[in-house]
Amino acid sequence: MFSSNASNFSSSIHQKCQLLPTGILCKSIAVSGLILFLFYAFLLNNGNQSSDLFNLPFQLKWPAASFSSNINNTMDSPTNINHIGFIVIGSLNSWKNRKSYIESWWRPNVTRGYVFLDKEPTEEFLPWPLTSPPFQVNENIAKLRVYPKVASPVQVRMFRSLLDMYRVGDKDLRWLIMCDDDTIFFVDNLVEVLRKYDHTKYQYIGGNSECVKSNADFSFDMGFGGAGYAVSYPFAQALSTKLDDCIERYFYVWVSDHMAQSCFADLGVALTIEKGIHQIDLHGDISGFLSSHPQSPLLTLHHFDVIDPIFPSMDRYEATRHLMKAAKVDQSRIVQQTICYERESNWSFSVSWGYSTHIYENIIPRSFLRKPLETFRPWARNSRPPFYMFNTRWLINNPCEAPHVFFFESIEHSAENNTVLTTYVRAAPRNLPPCSASGNHSADPISKIRVLSPATTRKTAGVIECCDVDYKAETNVTDIKIRSCLKDEVIA
Ligand SMILES: *[C@@H]1O[C@H](CO)[C@@H](O)[C@H](O)[C@H]1NC(C)=O
Ligand SMILES: *[C@@H]1O[C@H](CO)[C@@H](O)[C@H](O)[C@H]1NC(C)=O
Ligand SMILES: *[C@@H]1O[C@H](CO)[C@@H](O)[C@H](O)[C@H]1NC(C)=O
Ligand SMILES: *[C@@H]1O[C@H](CO)[C@@H](O)[C@H](O)[C@H]1NC(C)=O
Ligand SMILES: *[C@@H]1O[C@H](CO)[C@@H](O)[C@H](O)[C@H]1NC(C)=O
Ligand SMILES: *[C@@H]1O[C@H](CO)[C@@H](O)[C@H](O)[C@H]1NC(C)=O
Repeated sequence: MFSSNASNFSSSIHQKCQLLPTGILCKSIAVSGLILFLFYAFLLNNGNQSSDLFNLPFQLKWPAASFSSNINNTMDSPTNINHIGFIVIGSLNSWKNRKSYIESWWRPNVTRGYVFLDKEPTEEFLPWPLTSPPFQVNENIAKLRVYPKVASPVQVRMFRSLLDMYRVGDKDLRWLIMCDDDTIFFVDNLVEVLRKYDHTKYQYIGGNSECVKSNADFSFDMGFGGAGYAVSYPFAQALSTKLDDCIERYFYVWVSDHMAQSCFADLGVALTIEKGIHQIDLHGDISGFLSSHPQSPLLTLHHFDVIDPIFPSMDRYEATRHLMKAAKVDQSRIVQQTICYERESNWSFSVSWGYSTHIYENIIPRSFLRKPLETFRPWARNSRPPFYMFNTRWLINNPCEAPHVFFFESIEHSAENNTVLTTYVRAAPRNLPPCSASGNHSADPISKIRVLSPATTRKTAGVIECCDVDYKAETNVTDIKIRSCLKDEVIA
């Protein structure tokens, strides 16, 4: 019911592209625009000594240890949530439908930052709710000298939110985070991940598209904006004096993230990729993707308006809030995959904590279960394989390979037992005979899976956990206990 409103949404290139019959058409125009530009640039400058395009605009000067006075560049205090300023790039038209997504993770009076709008909110938006980020209105870009030439004024406005945010002048920020108004953050994980990086250096941290073609069309070195990207405060400060020059140089670029990446590259700063940052350039059912997430803290999700609701029985907003119920209790484990086996029945279990659980009626190696089931489609309908930046598994009707699928239902924290109990219920009957090769042990009767995880120890980023299955043949409920792996435990 929300996707039919696509024409209301204007804040990111991908929604823009969607208005065209195929997303890729839009990208092709952008790319051929660039090629044309290069061609004309070549013609115009042929015989001329210097081409604007290849003339580096400013000196690459490497800052010494000192920055301006309002940057606290000691590494001795760990980065916390107060050091992060969010730049939610919105627009008045999209905000009505998008604000639910932002409010699903925004913590009033805790998270810092603003939603940047194209114009002053009209009366229907006022009073501005305290549950939303406060708003700022972007500076009008029509006054820019380059304005008549810019390929996409909307995208330039979006990119300039970084400058507008810097000029608000909020103090004691170490990181500025650019995102769209349909980007969902896992804020505790973001804090933890940013802590690894030296915020006093120039940093640009983001994520690629899931689709090979999107990265190839733009750049493998580009942080996709809807996925969200972080720039360190000193870098934002340096950019504040260069950003309008970048727009002058890259006026022909169609996409703000591409303009940003080109600009950052000119300053000598390359993208650092974090695996938990997700553009979700996918269509359809992304449950396969979320059920085999890499061992890396989940940081962002995006594009909720173009994918199916992530829980099949809910609408998009409900589904988002439902995932957040688990995320509020333990972000270190959210969608982290844990695999274990039940030898009596020859079953494999794959838990994506807080999201889903799969039972396979066969012993299947981790290396296989780690690959997402291809429940989704690529972003561009006319692209050719390989589609994705990761390996996938086909959906097949082989009873020895097709999972029984359960989705997250509820969460309960038991203080007395120091545990968190998450439950998962069967989405639908599998409608296949049992796997004969492994002994005809049908998992059809199982209707619910209960997963116990430790309440006081966080999962270590990048390190797998192990689990034990407690299955009693006469019951419909299976219990799984998540624990640290033993030293040199062979899991297969
Ligand atoms: C930097 O921040 C830390 C912790 O927030 C504080 O203890 C220290 O005094 C600050 N240093 C400066 C120079 O402001
Ligand atoms: C945030 O702080 C303001 C002022 O201190 C207060 O009026 C408001 O109720 C707070 N909002 C929430 C959601 O706690
Ligand atoms: C705590 O553990 C005991 C013993 O295993 C169990 O009976 C009880 O239901 C648990 N409490 C909660 C709230 O899970
Ligand atoms: C498990 O599967 C193997 C074949 O992969 C089979 O030999 C064995 O008997 C099965 N075990 C049970 C308990 O069914
Ligand atoms: C599983 O059941 C099928 C059909 O009932 C039978 O043909 C097959 O031999 C059984 N497999 C095992 C390992 O028992
Ligand atoms: C277990 O599931 C079966 C069918 O799936 C059902 O007939 C039975 O009543 C259930 N038992 C319990 C205790 O829920």
